[in-house]
Amino acid sequence: MKRIITYGTFDMLHYGHINLLKRAKSLGDYLVVALSTDEFNWESKSKKTYFSYEKRKQLLESIRYVDLVIPEKSWNQKISDMSLYQIDTFVIGDDWKGQFDFIANETNTEVIYLTRTPEISTTQIKKDLNDKNLVKKNSSVLNSNLIDK
Ligand code: CTP
Repeated sequence: MKRIITYGTFDMLHYGHINLLKRAKSLGDYLVVALSTDEFNWESKSKKTYFSYEKRKQLLESIRYVDLVIPEKSWNQKISDMSLYQIDTFVIGDDWKGQFDFIANETNTEVIYLTRTPEISTTQIKKDLNDKNLVKKNSSVLNSNLIDK
């Protein structure tokens, strides 16, 4: 059985993430996703996620391409993850190109950078939602929601 691993935050899951997971799974039989914890995101990536680790994990586990979700708690766990989970191939988007070549040098794991899906990211969604007025100010739905609260 060929085992694949990928790492990431996967906040506000979108079609760019699904494309990545689908292509990752197609390279083997079993896909492990190492999901950045809330603490790791905040302390090491300066990212505050919209969905908590548990919610992001639940979403990933409901995707047919994903077999196992494990926590990513530090930058340093990758080498030990490769042997712990008996990984054949490490996959990540090409925004990380070259940065994980050390895994191929230090283990028997192949490293593949996949082309990112253009024009979509969690950062872009947050920005667009901020910029766009998606609900009419005088809509009756909005008004009734306000009355309910
Ligand atoms: N990814 C991708 N195509 C996109 C967005 C993400 O292939 N359009 C990939 C990334 O390269 C990474 C994985 O999905 O391998 C998880 O990326 P993540 O950083 O969680 O998603 P982004 O949408 O890029 O989030 P952010 O804007 O917070 O960086």
